[in-house]
Amino acid sequence: MTIKEYIKTRKQEIKNEVSKLEKKPFLVVIQVNEDAGSNAYVKGKLKDCDELGIKAELIKLPIDTSEENLLKIIENCNKNPEITGFIVQMPLPKHINEETIKLAISPEKDVDGFHPLSKLNPCTPQGIIDYLKSEGTNFVGKNALVIGRSNIVGKPMAKLLLAEHCNVTVTHSRTKFEDMNWFINHADIIVIAIGRQHYLDNKYNYKPDSIVVDVGISRDENGLHGDALPGLPVKLQTPVPGGVGLLTRLSLIENLLKIYKGL
Ligand code: GUN
Repeated sequence: MTIKEYIKTRKQEIKNEVSKLEKKPFLVVIQVNEDAGSNAYVKGKLKDCDELGIKAELIKLPIDTSEENLLKIIENCNKNPEITGFIVQMPLPKHINEETIKLAISPEKDVDGFHPLSKLNPCTPQGIIDYLKSEGTNFVGKNALVIGRSNIVGKPMAKLLLAEHCNVTVTHSRTKFEDMNWFINHADIIVIAIGRQHYLDNKYNYKPDSIVVDVGISRDENGLHGDALPGLPVKLQTPVPGGVGLLTRLSLIENLLKIYKGL
């Protein structure tokens, strides 16, 4: 199944499930930035909720909102029994400490899975695992290469692939070319998230039956581009746009429903 078909099928199932619920799940999105990427993400999230019959509300705060004020709003969301779960859209302005904010969100309502005590996983890595499983991917004993070490994608991705019994390697922007080439040569599953347009191209040798999951997204005058050149000689390559971004959005809804059901 393509990602689009997978999303459509899963959304239909969720829509049916939600339609039977008397009290609808309620997602709150708090945004304190004027970031174009975030605006697009937030719009997509609210649209998904609307489509699926899930209640959603955006709290958009001015860019000069103090950390103290944001913490008060988070505390209200933590306490409000009407709210199933909520997220604070990243990035935050420099005067607000992201770690403080992540720790202030109650782990019971943390749809993003960012809190260290949260039972949920961050949406992008979880969405990728769920999709690869739906494709019948066998993870056990496979060589997984994660390129990128961010807190939102690279690190949690490596953890989830380990939990699926992969042999996991993490490389990054400082990895030497010869080493990167060796790791790519031996990889069965490559997840790339470094934000460099078409970093993976034909200068590397891929295993013909490997999988490339492209998390990168960059924009230029020709539109949106991933971290991997389209059409690599591999078994499965996720497209950009219309790939991992959609999986992340779906995963957010899956996490919200897990909270609704008491995990
Ligand atoms: N900014 C980019 N991706 C994400 C995400 O998954 N969650 C939040 N809260 N902010 C983001």
